[in-house]
Amino acid sequence: MNETINTAQMPAENPVTSMMHLSDNEFESIRKLVYDRFGINLTPAKRSLVVGRLQKILRSRGIGSFSQYYDMLQRETSGKMLSEFVNRISTNYTYFEREKDHFEFFEKTALPEADRRHKARSEKDLRVWCAGCSTGEEAYTLVIRMMDYFGAEYSRWNAGLLATDISADALEVAAAGMYPDERVSPLPAAVRNKYFVKRPEGQWAVHERVKKEITFRRFNLMNSAFPFKNPFDVIFCRNVMIYFDSPTRKALVGRFCDCLVPGGYLFIGHSESLGRDLRRLEYVMPAVYRRKEV
Ligand SMILES: C[S@@+](CC[C@H](N)C(=O)[O-])C[C@H]1O[C@@H](n2cnc3c(N)ncnc32)[C@H](O)[C@@H]1O
Repeated sequence: MNETINTAQMPAENPVTSMMHLSDNEFESIRKLVYDRFGINLTPAKRSLVVGRLQKILRSRGIGSFSQYYDMLQRETSGKMLSEFVNRISTNYTYFEREKDHFEFFEKTALPEADRRHKARSEKDLRVWCAGCSTGEEAYTLVIRMMDYFGAEYSRWNAGLLATDISADALEVAAAGMYPDERVSPLPAAVRNKYFVKRPEGQWAVHERVKKEITFRRFNLMNSAFPFKNPFDVIFCRNVMIYFDSPTRKALVGRFCDCLVPGGYLFIGHSESLGRDLRRLEYVMPAVYRRKEV
């Protein structure tokens, strides 16, 4: 399909006027690259989205076609262009209190169980991973819930949270921990006032004592081996696998199970499914799974 539009007929500021052409072969090359490197499954329905998201890069770099851009991506050795590419291709949509029942379950069930499990072993190392954290809203909420659950005891735990994503741009926003009014508005006022500081310019800054509990890292979930020495008590990977196909999801869930403590929890997005083949996990409630003991 030729998506080039006659620009003479439309005003210059209309973004549709300047859609660059993406041939079938070019789309297929880009689709394959995204799938092979990041697991993201770009269906044909995403074609104009791909053009819309990538043409800005092509224009800013003075690249004349998607084939030329694809060749440059293949040839570069620094990984910088690929990073810029995935920043544009990935969907980072997220918000505070998304699928809130999961945070309730995390605080009321998963944390008390982990608390008992660790105390039974006379240790206090709590490990939580937010995989596909995007701009940080989910990760900060998890730490806030941990602090609320443990209260004054929190400082006696070796607790903290690993938050990872493939998008360096999203991670930069996450690490800054600064959100405008409308983004923090879903949070209860008591939470905002306790864990955020309102800046004179109107932004809400996550309190330093919350920020320092999170390690933000760029990490590709397609890495075949996960580099963790110790298992996690809880893994959140919500609204990430929605972009993956079934074999990719299945392999990733296997890797999550490898690094989840028996009895630990995996949270996925409400619109995602793990299918029926749950060898190592048991279904707990919508989008919440528990690693079997054996
Ligand atoms: C829609 S956001 C979900 C954010 C948050 N978990 C939530 O539920 O609101 C999906 C995130 O997954 C990340 N992602 C996609 N593919 C990834 C991969 N292969 N490795 C790591 N992160 C990936 C994207 O960059 C994006 O930030």
